[in-house]
Amino acid sequence: MRPRWLRAVGITIGALTVCSLFYGHYYSSLVSVARSPQGGVGYDFPSKGLEWIPAVPHGRERNRELAETLRVQRPSKQVPGTCPTSLQLRVKNDSYFKTIFNFEVPLLLWNSHLTENNWDTLSKRPVPYGWKDLPREDVASALKLLNDSANKAMFERQGPQKCIRCAVVGNGGILNGSKKGKEIDGHDYVFRLNGAVIKGFEKDVGTKTSFYGFTVNTMKNSLISYQEHGFTETPKGKDLHYIFIPSDLRDYVMLRSGILGVKVPSGYDEGDKPSEYFGPKPSPKKFKMLHPDFLLYTRDRFLKSDILNTEYASLYMPSTGGLMLLTALHSCDQVSAYGFITPDYNRYSDHYYERQKVPLEFYANHDMLMEMQLWGRLHDRGIIKLYKR
Ligand SMILES: *[C@@H]1O[C@H](CO)[C@@H](O)[C@H](O)[C@H]1NC(C)=O
Ligand SMILES: *[C@@H]1O[C@H](CO)[C@@H](O)[C@H](O)[C@H]1NC(C)=O
Ligand SMILES: *[C@@H]1O[C@H](CO)[C@@H](O)[C@H](O)[C@H]1NC(C)=O
Repeated sequence: MRPRWLRAVGITIGALTVCSLFYGHYYSSLVSVARSPQGGVGYDFPSKGLEWIPAVPHGRERNRELAETLRVQRPSKQVPGTCPTSLQLRVKNDSYFKTIFNFEVPLLLWNSHLTENNWDTLSKRPVPYGWKDLPREDVASALKLLNDSANKAMFERQGPQKCIRCAVVGNGGILNGSKKGKEIDGHDYVFRLNGAVIKGFEKDVGTKTSFYGFTVNTMKNSLISYQEHGFTETPKGKDLHYIFIPSDLRDYVMLRSGILGVKVPSGYDEGDKPSEYFGPKPSPKKFKMLHPDFLLYTRDRFLKSDILNTEYASLYMPSTGGLMLLTALHSCDQVSAYGFITPDYNRYSDHYYERQKVPLEFYANHDMLMEMQLWGRLHDRGIIKLYKR
């Protein structure tokens, strides 16, 4: 496994070098845009039109703010017993996982996170877990638009009695011929991600999509790489919500353009029409963005890979599927995972929609074997239901 893993590293590094060349170009053009209105000192503003919420003191005030955040996020806390097998209860009862899970970490990011405190903390932390080197104006103008109650919670709970059952559908080859479509669609909410092909695979993967998760990079790469397999457009629909995983400046810039319904004004995705990704005139309610603190927490608590001790550390991040599964684990009461890596992955193609079997490749930016162990362990402890064959 390692030799293949290492071979793949070379390809990844090559691709990332190209990316960073573009990124460098993008970044300098944005800085100059940021300079021009005031002729001032780069991106160290407040610049026009941006109201910053004053710094929140530490201590009790900070706790109150956090409590407020949590109240908004989990409107009616799960009443133990109404959902006899809720994952929160299972976690609480598990000597290992109760030390790993922290249901109080902020899951989503929205306008009230625009505080001086958050800026001070996050602007010191590099992407994908922070805002280091990101122009403040770009982050702020995106977050400012996340001011609807729908941006602040994964879903509205219909009273305390409701037990929210979620399915997270990865794109793994194990789903080919699974006939799990009906079961998947039977959940209250269905999460999908990246190249989530549905047409032609309804029997195996279902049709319902409540949440579609991605980074702008993985979404656009999926549209290119899996087009030949039928991923010709991103999922759209009245009840569908988009979950942005912020991993660099592109995600903030695209989110802003998506909500405003304008062409991407500058940078790597300049000229893109967000309506092609999110539909024409999407409601601002359709958008959610994961909190960088949540990303950091998933890495450090659940998937602290040995890759972090190598020269590839800065490329490492949990996979998009992994992040969606962990998002569901921190918002739903019951979670079933389909299309995720299992120990018999060699039997299946990389994705369920390939026509010829393509072996799963391992890249340095994810640790799929570590994820495999995590999903297996969560399943064994009754915290998720993992689809295996
Ligand atoms: C809690 O753990 C004990 C022992 O491991 C087990 O017997 C019990 O069923 C668990 N309860 C829940 C709610 O999972
Ligand atoms: C959110 O902000 C926009 C633009 O500033 C404003 O038009 C809108 O009314 C706000 N929405 C809410 C729910 O406050
Ligand atoms: C998908 O499943 C079918 C039937 O079970 C099989 O013939 C085909 O080879 C599989 N596709 C891949 C890419 O493994």
